[in-house]
Amino acid sequence: MATRAKNIFFCAECGYESPKWLGQCPGCRAWNSFAEEPVQKKAPAGGFVSAGKRAVPQRLSEVTQTAQERIGSGIGEFDRVLGGGIVPGSLVLVGGDPGIGKSTLLLQMSSILSEAGHVVLYISGEESPQQIKLRADRLDKPSGKLLLLAETNLDAVEAVIEQQKPEIVIIDSIQTMFREDIQASPGSVSQVRETTGSLLRVAKGQGITIFIVGHVTKEGVVAGPRVLEHMVDTVLYFEGENAASYRILRAVKNRFGSTNEIGVFEMCQNGLAEILNPSEYLLEGRPENEPGSVVAAMMEGSRTMLVEVQALVCQTNFNMPRRTAAGMDYNRVNLLLAVLEKRLGIQLAFCDAYINVAGGMRISEPALDLAVVFAILSSYKNKAVPEHTIVFGEVGLTGEVRAVSMAAGRVAEAAKLGYAQCILPYANLEGMKKNRKEFGGISLVGVKNVRDLFGLLER
Ligand code: TYD
Ligand code: MG
Repeated sequence: MATRAKNIFFCAECGYESPKWLGQCPGCRAWNSFAEEPVQKKAPAGGFVSAGKRAVPQRLSEVTQTAQERIGSGIGEFDRVLGGGIVPGSLVLVGGDPGIGKSTLLLQMSSILSEAGHVVLYISGEESPQQIKLRADRLDKPSGKLLLLAETNLDAVEAVIEQQKPEIVIIDSIQTMFREDIQASPGSVSQVRETTGSLLRVAKGQGITIFIVGHVTKEGVVAGPRVLEHMVDTVLYFEGENAASYRILRAVKNRFGSTNEIGVFEMCQNGLAEILNPSEYLLEGRPENEPGSVVAAMMEGSRTMLVEVQALVCQTNFNMPRRTAAGMDYNRVNLLLAVLEKRLGIQLAFCDAYINVAGGMRISEPALDLAVVFAILSSYKNKAVPEHTIVFGEVGLTGEVRAVSMAAGRVAEAAKLGYAQCILPYANLEGMKKNRKEFGGISLVGVKNVRDLFGLLER
């Protein structure tokens, strides 16, 4: 195919192409993210390896299913997010802010796997082998068998893969890799896309699992991981608050498993440690018997997490009362305050309200509503909520408490951690009466509306 060189503008956030510069990207609405790059239009990158002219279609019934043998990564939380282990021949993108721990996680995994006898090749375009060794020395069980390569030229990388025949390859990071035949500089949209395209062909053609590290970028200097999200099989994001030491690994896309799962880690002196029971971790140091503190049972994928919600309601010194929400939606807090004011007739318009989900978690599940409402009422009345109690439920605009999904799982988690009482939507209570025995001695209190909840505080 004839190649023609010309310049195109790309959005560095999402890869949107445009013949001219644009202030705002029509694709992802990012501002000032366009950069000019030379491109050579060739066969599109990505896609499955083609068999050329002799391609023949198959009947679905004739396709033989080869059982997907997954490789355990040696890190349980990581396997959970991947959907039960590493799928051979898959392309996995691990995205996240710089410094969050992507290299640490992948080095830890590579170390464990190479010690278990797998051939793992770790390619770093950012650090020298000495630096990687330094980092590996901090880890619990460094492995001497891991193959290291400091290289940014993808053609050289492909030659090494050809020669060493590894089972697993780590590319740290995609923004440092380049192909010589692409004129744009490393980190540009065309380089990131083309190098990923080449890696995709290596992964699918040779059955090698490739993990690609992608930095989330500020202000479009280099292309972010979103540019290549559609090309890879699995997209994982590693996130966490800077101040908190725990990190959450979340699947955003997964062709081999659920996208609801999360893995929880803590960054320690010797690498990332798995947190097997996040509820205990998040509730550590919770004040007992203090007004305004409530424990809520939330779902993250298939696992229940108990988190503490705090509210501080006090008389305002401003014309406009102040409201803040950390860890949940600000507008939702305003809505819940309005519901309480209207349905219970309490004068929150003259009160400041500060809501905080402790531990730095961010929660978007509506089942948090009832706990927020309870925390607000508790702080407003200056009365602690009943001891050893957990709360969950969605609150509607008329003050009604609506049923939420997976109520039994939430109650079971609370029972496991020794809670004595659970306040839940009345509608959920009906459905749970049958299998009550499963929850041990925990007492279940169903509420139909916010008035019922207020009544519980009066007792
Ligand atoms: P890193 O894996 O380099 O982040 P990324 O590859 O996502 O940019 O993580 C770097 C941070 O982690 C750094 O601030 C140091 C910290 N760290 C620890 O606290 N303990 C450790 O054992 C290691 C290896 C790193
Ligand atoms: Mg790194």
